[in-house]
Amino acid sequence: MKINNAVIYFFGALGGLLFGYDTGVISGAILYIKKSLGLTSMTEGIVVSSILVGAMIGAAFSGKLSDKYGRRKNVMVAAAIFCIGAIGTAFAPDTVVLILFRIVLGIAVGCASALVPLYLSEMAPANIRGALSSLNQLMIVTGILIAYIINYIFAPIEGWRWMLGLALIPGIILLIGMLFLPESPRWLLKQHREQEARKVLNHLRKGVGVEEELAEIRKTNSEENGGWKTLKEKWIRPALIVGIGLAIFQQIIGCNTVIYYAPTTITKVGLGNSAALLGTIGIGVLNVVVTILAVWLMDKVGRKKLLLIGSIGMAVCLFALGLLTKFGGGSSATGYITLICLAAYIVFFAATWGPVVWVMLGEIFPLSVRGLGIGISGVANWAANLIVSLTFPSLLDQFGNMLFVVYGVMGILSFIFGSIYVTETKGRSLEEIELDLKKRVPSQLAEKGKQHII
Ligand code: BGC
Repeated sequence: MKINNAVIYFFGALGGLLFGYDTGVISGAILYIKKSLGLTSMTEGIVVSSILVGAMIGAAFSGKLSDKYGRRKNVMVAAAIFCIGAIGTAFAPDTVVLILFRIVLGIAVGCASALVPLYLSEMAPANIRGALSSLNQLMIVTGILIAYIINYIFAPIEGWRWMLGLALIPGIILLIGMLFLPESPRWLLKQHREQEARKVLNHLRKGVGVEEELAEIRKTNSEENGGWKTLKEKWIRPALIVGIGLAIFQQIIGCNTVIYYAPTTITKVGLGNSAALLGTIGIGVLNVVVTILAVWLMDKVGRKKLLLIGSIGMAVCLFALGLLTKFGGGSSATGYITLICLAAYIVFFAATWGPVVWVMLGEIFPLSVRGLGIGISGVANWAANLIVSLTFPSLLDQFGNMLFVVYGVMGILSFIFGSIYVTETKGRSLEEIELDLKKRVPSQLAEKGKQHII
């Protein structure tokens, strides 16, 4: 069957929508779950964060498995787990079952977070790879927005089971869609399935430049599938540092504290509950709109520049948020400036660190360990997310809004990290990026007799 390229990229990115929906839906659903299942503040925390624990497990396994069994098959497994998780959480009779199925859902979210950027980056042509890979983030934020809207619709009937269960629909769509999608040509070539790889590339590139691209992939394809041992090799270390560093900084600059707790901040500045609810949806919309802009910017401005601009922009907003409430008193002007800071923070995050991190994770690792490398970075991202989410409420109690100054300092550190370690990937093929890594430490490769591939 001939499938349109747009359809391929749409379904390739769809896993991101489930990632966004399942992480976003709990903010509204938890209010009613608390009442219905009689949660304590401890079990409430566990219900909310169990998905992050599952995501760490999912990211840890899916990367390596996708190096072995292929990107596409693993996305299908993730889609099936999404469906099981949606049904399980919707029908959970008690808190324990709910937590168990939230972990199951998390496994699927973790898989999607590693597999979608991997699949998209390996399917896309170099000149628009940034745009196509950032469709993942566009799906994530769309999923979050849909979750907010569903929460809003089902709030009057306290329908938390509907909120959680409706994730089944995109889960089934993803599962069916993936049945018809091709496997990544790069992975196929790695498995020495050259005819199939050629067929997929011919379809994706409409026959243009296919032999050149195949030849280029072959140049980096002389190594066997690598494992942990390969990942520890010196020439891969720069990629690992960038991958793990970007993954952790994305979380410790506080993105989810701002996204999850925006309603609380809005009520604190005296704007009332309905404003808070609308504010949440407003933030969801802003996140989507700016991400669309980011899709466009990615291959024009470049990843590194976006990261650096984002770090500074977010740091300024965070410092302002922290210091305003300390020195600004309780005036209505302070309230509005707080709102502006929140919105500006979201704009900076959505245009830069939100999409760029997942795009770059799909680009920086060599083919032989690409799945494994992105999986490990994914684990780091979810672990950092878990730590920040668990500590935020008590830290906020202790330090008040001055806490945002601490996240601001992380923003400055992320700028320094980005300027020192990140190398631009815009417009370069995945193979050029890999060869560049090899060129940096030729001596070690020479020792291993691999010099010929440079
Ligand atoms: C981050 C998530 C965040 C989402 C929302 C993603 O890139 O990894 O932690 O919730 O963006 O914008």
